This record gives sequence, structure tokens and C-alpha cells, in this order.
Amino acid sequence: MIGRLIVVSNRLPLTLRKVDEGWATERSPGGLASAMKPLLRRNGGDWIGWAGDSAELDREDRRAILHDWAQKDHCFTVELPPDVATGFYEGYANQTLWPVFHNFPSQLKFESKAWEAYVEANRIFREAVVERYKPNDLIWVHDYHLMLLPQMLRDKLPDAAIGFFLHIPFPSSEIFLVLPRREELLEGLLGADLLAFQTHGHLQQFRAALLRVFGMESKIEQVAVGSRPVRLEALPIGIAPEEYTDLLKSDKTTAAQYAEWVARYSGRKVLLAVDRLDYTKGVPERLRAYAHLLRSSSELKENVVLIQIAVPTREGIDTYQDLRTEVNRLVGEINGKLGTPEWTPLVYINRSIERTELVGLYKLADVCWVGSLRDGMNLVAKEYVACKPEGDGVLVLSEFAGAAAEMGEALLINPFDEERTAATIERALALDEQERCQRMTTLHNRVLRNNVFRWGYRFLALLQEAVSERGRYIDTQPQRLRPGEIRDAYTRASRRLLILDYDGTLVPFAKRPQQAAPPPVVLDLLSALASEPRNCVALMSGRSAENLDRWFGTVRGMWLVAEHGAELKPPSAATWEPLRSQVAHRLEVYSGANFGALHGPHAGKFC
Ligand code: ADP
Ligand code: F6P
Repeated sequence: MIGRLIVVSNRLPLTLRKVDEGWATERSPGGLASAMKPLLRRNGGDWIGWAGDSAELDREDRRAILHDWAQKDHCFTVELPPDVATGFYEGYANQTLWPVFHNFPSQLKFESKAWEAYVEANRIFREAVVERYKPNDLIWVHDYHLMLLPQMLRDKLPDAAIGFFLHIPFPSSEIFLVLPRREELLEGLLGADLLAFQTHGHLQQFRAALLRVFGMESKIEQVAVGSRPVRLEALPIGIAPEEYTDLLKSDKTTAAQYAEWVARYSGRKVLLAVDRLDYTKGVPERLRAYAHLLRSSSELKENVVLIQIAVPTREGIDTYQDLRTEVNRLVGEINGKLGTPEWTPLVYINRSIERTELVGLYKLADVCWVGSLRDGMNLVAKEYVACKPEGDGVLVLSEFAGAAAEMGEALLINPFDEERTAATIERALALDEQERCQRMTTLHNRVLRNNVFRWGYRFLALLQEAVSERGRYIDTQPQRLRPGEIRDAYTRASRRLLILDYDGTLVPFAKRPQQAAPPPVVLDLLSALASEPRNCVALMSGRSAENLDRWFGTVRGMWLVAEHGAELKPPSAATWEPLRSQVAHRLEVYSGANFGALHGPHAGKFC
């Protein structure tokens, strides 16, 4: 029987903000909250997260608000003490992980205190989940804030079904390697039964990181952690289209706003950009490209307007404050230098806006301009497309947003190339009606089809499948022989061929291959086995010949096979030989005994 769904994310759909004497409750920013809210509303389940504030945690009126969230919306708050909240959210999560995962390693800041806060916050989240958990529940952990949580939960709830979805990109392994505490993060993630990413590219980069950091091989859809399989998937997130289309169809405020804007911008083409004011969204790059466009195209002068919505975000962090200053400067420069008394080329809104307004703007815009320098998905692109049922409008989309992988009918841009971006915007404004309609209709149908409900359903189905594979996976492994059986067979045999694997067999896997040197007890054991006249002992490894020589050169009477069988060194030989057919023949000459064929058509006899 399937139990409840427990969603765990840093953000709840609502955020508390301290104002004067009380609190304001606001819609949480970001794609995660936008996507998960309708899904939970439809499917039911508990949502565990942080309210976004950490001051005056004891106040009675604050508690009453949170109690209300729990009662009405099944949203359960995790309380983080102020120093933990700061180190966790403004520290490790958003100044260490966020820049590295978005390919901005130069913005990385790291303090071990912030890391400790990150660990502590994950631990506090774990307690909150364990407190609510009942057998058969499905636990769904979200995003980079909680990368340690899957393993922390696994330690306490070994049988629980635990899934993890990463909303942001996973970086290339070169960039991932710069991350302080990268090993702990990977170990934390591997506690899950299912790990899902926005795109295949991100999934592949995760696998590459496992290989580079732990030397851990994986299949495209699975990695084994001991005898436990962890399922890997690429699952691009969608939106709940009716959240937007319903407002378009029947909301009076949306209709009134829309009518007002149509009148205000009549005769002008409208470009729209909606972003959190985050350096990954490419806002300054867009503004510079827009200035370039206006300077280079006299026809567009007075005939176009760019509406840039920039939702404030992470304002306690210096980088974000610097970004705001830079954007304010560019806005002033564009309007000051290029505007006229009749025309303001850039409308800049640096505040949160209502969903009704947002939908009106989507409907109004001739072009939606998504210029992320790096983005997990970008739901704004999908929301815009959902608001274009008639096939009007053009989506201009950064090729560095996850959305580009499934929205190929958009006009794709490299936002770092400001001149060509400007040219693409010009093309978008001039696109002939038929092409525009074809592109938009295809996109619209796909966004409606690949919606967030389908995504959620697929994630949960895969999670259950992954859990049911646990037992099956173990069953398909070769049966382990009991030590007694091995001893009896060994004693009975008149001659014995022992082919021994090294890493993970004679010594445990190490984080770095060079740390797995054989301890004296292993060398003594190998020497004892190899010196027994009835034994033929071979050590077979993927390691290099030089490495095996260095570690096992002193063990007399033992065969060495390096690089998974590419090189062979018989006992007491001075040099290595490539393991090809003629070498296989020489093996027969060396030994004279037949222990059965080696692999392959040219295989000879081993000892
Ligand atoms: P990210 O998650 O990085 O912020 P996305 O584009 O994926 O980027 O998601 C942004 C989400 O924020 C969208 O669903 C968008 O509708 C929503 N949004 C836009 N404006 C606001 C606002 N003023 N308040 C809250 N959410 C907003
Ligand atoms: O969608 C990506 C995301 O990073 C969410 O995880 C996050 O909640 C959101 O963007 C907004 O950022 P923040 O929570 O810092 O306001």
C-alpha cells in the first residue's frame, strides 16, 4: 500500500517576512514553489520547509500563522535558528553551491562555518521528516539546499522510499571538482532510491562527478551503492498550464490589466523579460543587447518597449546587491540616453508582481526574452508559451536554460553574444505570421502535454519502481559462497587457480585510488597463498602495470594482470607483456597445466 507523499524543500509555497510589528505572508519566489504547489494541491500530501525568516521565532502571532499553514495547507515549518539559517541559506547554499552549480566558480565563497550550518540545517530537516514519517510514505526531497538529507534519512529510516529532484543544473565534473565538501554532497545524494535531474546533460555530468570523485562507475539509469541500486533519471519539470490559462479565460483583473496595457502600448511591439534578479539570469547582458539593438536599428526606435520584471531575491548577499546596482545603472543609461519625451524604451519593475498581472503581460508580449546564462529549466519560458493558445508571440530562449533541450522551436540565443542576441530579437519581431504560428503552436501543445502533473506522476512511479527493484537487484547478483564452502573446496582440491580482484575485494574502495594501497596483512596473505605449491595465484586489476609493480612486486610466485587484462606479468618475470594471442600461447609454455581457457578465441591456458 502506498502511503502519503512527504515533500521536503527549503521553500514552502508561502514565505514569511517581518514587517514593522507583524509579518507579511508572500508567495515564494522561484520555479520550485510555482511547480510543486498545484501538484500537491491536486495529489495531496505534506510539505515540509522553511518559512524564510528566523527572527523572533517565539512570537505567539507568528506561531498562529504557521499553525494556520499546517492546518489549512498541510505546510509544516522547519524552524532554523538565525545563525544556522544565515550560514545555510546565505552561506553554503547560495554562495558556494549556487555559483558552482551554475558555472560561476569565480563567485564561489566558502567558509567552514557556513558548511557546518548547512549540515545542521539538513539535520534539522531530517528530524522534521522523521517526526512525520509513517511506514509506506514516499519522501520527495528537492534541490541543492538539501543534498545531505537523503543519506541522513537513510541512516534513520533504512527502508523508506526516498527520491531527490535537482531543480538547478548539475555542473561539468571539472567545475564540480572545485566544490569544497563535494564528497559529502555526493554521499548525501546517494542515500536516495531515485535521483532525478532536469536534463540528460545534467544527469551525465552527475555520473562523471561520481567517476572523478569516487572512481565510481554507473550505468545510464542506475548506480550501485553496495548492494543497493540508486535509479538515475532525466525528468524535465513542467508547469500547471491551467493556473495561467484559467486566468486568461475568465479572470476580470487580468482582463482589465491587459486592456489597459494594450491601450498604453498601442502601436509598439512589446518585449517581455521576467526573472529573479539573479546573476545567472543574464539581466545586464540582456540590457546591453537591447541597447545595442536600439542603437543599430533606427526602425525600432519609438516602436518597441522592453518590460523587464526583476523579482528581488537573496538581497542579503553582496553579489546580489552589486547586481542590483549594475542593473539600475544600465536602466538609467538606456532610458536616459536612448529615450525621448514620448518614449521610454525600458520599463523596469523591481518588485514582486501578482500572478494576474504576470498573465496579462504574457498575453500582451510579442516576444518573451529568456536570456539565462545558466538555468536548471526556466519555467517563465513555459508559462509564456502556455498563455499563447492562438499561436501568436515568439519565444527567444537561451541555449543555456534547461528548457532549450525540449523547446527547440524557440529562437535560441547565446546570451553572452550580445550582438547576435540583438539580431535574433530583431528577427523575432519580424517573423512572418505563418512561421511564428507554427513554432508557437508546437511549443504550446508540448507545454500543455508535458505538464507538472505528468512530471510528478512519473517521478513517483519511478520512485516506487526503484524501491521495488531493491530486492530484485540483490537477487540478480551472483550468490555469495559461504566461507565454509570456500574452505572445503580449497581443502579438497589438488590444484587451485585463484584469480583475485583487488579494489573492493582485497581492500575497500577508497575515495582516491592511490589511497587504496595494500596493508601488510593483505601482502602477507597473498605471499602465503602464492608460496603454496598447489596454488596458482593471479591478481587481476584495472590498475596500471606500474601501480601493480609498485605494490605487489615483492610478492613472489604471483601472476599480475593489469589494465583489466591488457598487460600480463608472470611470476618472476622482469617485464610486462601485452596479453595477446602469442602471449597466451607462452602461458601454456610457462605452466604446462590446463586450468581451462581464458576469454576469447585466442585464449590459452593460465598456469
Ligand atoms: P527560478 O526558479 O530560478 O526563479 P523559473 O523561471 O524557473 O526561475 O521560475 C520563476 C517562477 O517565479 C515562475 O513560475 C514565475 O511565474 C514566478 N514568478 C514570477 N514573478 C513572480 C513574483 N513576483 N512572485 C513570485 N513568483 C514569481
Ligand atoms: O527553482 C530554483 C530555485 O533555486 C529554488 O530552489 C529556489 O527556491 C528558487 O529558485 C528561488 O530562490 P530562493 O529560494 O533563494 O528565493
